[in-house]
Amino acid sequence: MQTVKTQRLDADAAGIAQAAALLRAGRLVAFGTETVYGLGADAAQPQAIEAVFAAKGRPRFNPLIAHVADADAAFRQGCETPIARLLADAFWPGPLTLVLPARSDSVVCAEATAGLATLAVRVPSGAAVLRLLRAVDRPIAAPSANPSGRVSPTEAAHVLDGLAGRIDAVLDCGPCPVGLESTVIELRGDHPVLLRPGGISVEAIERLLATHGAPRLRRSGPAGDAAPASPGMLASHYAPDLPIRLDARHVGPDEALLAFGNTLEGAGLTWNLSPGGDLDQAARHLFAGLRLIDTQAMRLGLTRIAVMPIPAHGLGLAIRDRLQRAAAPRPADGQMDA
Ligand code: TXA
Ligand code: MG
Repeated sequence: MQTVKTQRLDADAAGIAQAAALLRAGRLVAFGTETVYGLGADAAQPQAIEAVFAAKGRPRFNPLIAHVADADAAFRQGCETPIARLLADAFWPGPLTLVLPARSDSVVCAEATAGLATLAVRVPSGAAVLRLLRAVDRPIAAPSANPSGRVSPTEAAHVLDGLAGRIDAVLDCGPCPVGLESTVIELRGDHPVLLRPGGISVEAIERLLATHGAPRLRRSGPAGDAAPASPGMLASHYAPDLPIRLDARHVGPDEALLAFGNTLEGAGLTWNLSPGGDLDQAARHLFAGLRLIDTQAMRLGLTRIAVMPIPAHGLGLAIRDRLQRAAAPRPADGQMDA
């Protein structure tokens, strides 16, 4: 693929205006959201979307999320239902993605939805990204701004590590405050379905649904199903270079440790996700920590990353999901989620 010079833009008025102009011209611009950095392109321009898949090396069957500045803009693309409005009012702007039946007058092109009849939409939070979306004034498709299958980026420098030379610009919005991707909920049948745990806890969604007497949230099949409900829910993803061992209660001499809470005796190279055992803090540090410990462990000649047990409540569910997929056997190139 052709190499371009990737500009780093400050998230000030001039930088945001330049990012918006690039996006409107069909170019690729990464930007920070509250979850992770996204690789943005105008969702209505097939050749811009094609360039996103090419830059990431992402399988074409894996659809993209359309990002918009508010719920009304989202419901101009996907069909509004009472539950969709309830969730939107409670959690947008914020780390929630809704998969809705696509409207017949949606401007999002078939390349972005992988030809599906549904459309994923989200209103991210963060002053800079919202200013950018308002300035562009059209849906922006944005997968996480990492090469397909690798660890998601939570800082502009991570984006440049993976995609410099393949994208036009990155808008530096600082480190992402949530640190892992949005929760994805599908709303097309009688019950809302959890497709991916993420930055809004399942408990918060279940509480809201119960308070309003809405149908209960269903969990989709495990990641790696032969026919995943979400085309992106393939097993291997978020992969660092070194293999990962989960639920470690001891640490071997050839292992680095990704700790949570009180660290393990005998641990050498250690990155603690949260010494105090706070799951929100652990989520914020997860991807940056995986990158750092991977690089340092390789340098020291260690052969594996051991990860301490993480509780499965709150953001712990999403942390465990990402770690399980980081630890999953890796398929041949081009077969991984993005
Ligand atoms: O927090 C996030 O969601 C980040 C930031 C940049 O917004 N984006 C992100 O995008 O994580 P991506 O492409 O890495 O993951 C999107 C997930 C994939 O698993 C994809 O398969 C799923 O959403 N998805 C998108 N459209 C879908 C649809 N119509 N039906 C089912 N799943 C869909
Ligand atoms: Mg991704």
